[in-house]
Amino acid sequence: PLETRFPLFHLRQHGGFWFPETLLPGIVAVRTRFAPRPSDVFLASFPKSGTTWLKALAFATAHRADHPPHAPDHPLRHRNPHDCVEFLEVSYALDPTADAFAALPSPRVIATHLPYPLLPERFTAEGAGCKVVYVCRDPKDAFVSAWLFARKMAAAAAAGAANDDEPWPVPPKPFGMEEAFELFCDGQCPGGPQGPHVSSYWEASRRWPEKVLFLQYEEMLQDPVDNVRKLAEFMGCAFSMEEEAAGVARDVVDLCSIDALKNVEANKRGSRKYVKNEAFFRKGVAGDWSNHMTPAMAARLDGIVEDALQGSGFAFAAAE
Ligand code: A3P
Repeated sequence: PLETRFPLFHLRQHGGFWFPETLLPGIVAVRTRFAPRPSDVFLASFPKSGTTWLKALAFATAHRADHPPHAPDHPLRHRNPHDCVEFLEVSYALDPTADAFAALPSPRVIATHLPYPLLPERFTAEGAGCKVVYVCRDPKDAFVSAWLFARKMAAAAAAGAANDDEPWPVPPKPFGMEEAFELFCDGQCPGGPQGPHVSSYWEASRRWPEKVLFLQYEEMLQDPVDNVRKLAEFMGCAFSMEEEAAGVARDVVDLCSIDALKNVEANKRGSRKYVKNEAFFRKGVAGDWSNHMTPAMAARLDGIVEDALQGSGFAFAAAE
């Protein structure tokens, strides 16, 4: 079929990947209208792979001169990370003729769920200077996270809580886990299929390591400070010796921890299109899939993603 509706949106295929159809005009507009700057940093991910966390970490790292991470008025103590770093394709989908990013000061930090081949060519071109940080996550945890997120969205929509001003594109319906799993295995989920999404960035990171940094959610959980250092160095703003002595990387990690973000008033109460802000912060651990999936489902999904990544030299980091 040409369309499907996991988690709740009508999805359509574009360039070999599935996207909510409401985003397609934005995805097309991005290619011609977005004007990259050499200092731009894109944060890329397959949905439910740690995007919100990466947004917070990269924003706090890039803007630490203006906003020290321990400051009580730090934007991340008052705003949702998705309000600090917007999604490229969502912004253009809201208004394909406007460039909401033109007004942002450099260095701009911009997020996307697009796979590498669908990034704007002027951005990926050799010599463009722009950088990409990709975060990937174990497919089983990404699936469970997406499935539970979709359920929350459906519940919020049913209660009329998340979206007062706009009608839902599709009336939400209860989704069985098995049905969602079949669609996910088939790649019919936003940004799917996951295997080719991950491999597109993995291969780009092998080819252009100075342009594409490849991170793994599970490794970030194991050693967040080291990963923030890597992130800072890659973005061209490595922590100085004074900053290291003052523990600034640790401050960034603490500011962006799931517990800290869960306690931010804007994350407890606010809502964005179709979803309450609090839905972005659930457990934030590796391996929660085992509480929701059977071993047979796990083996099947692992097999599908491994097949897609075969020969690439990539392996998902094991959960501790
Ligand atoms: P779980 O549902 O497994 O808990 P995304 O941001 O790409 O939508 O991914 C959401 C997942 O990241 C959710 O996983 C969420 O709990 C987790 N997450 C959100 N903020 C986090 C943080 N600061 N640190 C670690 N994980 C976080």
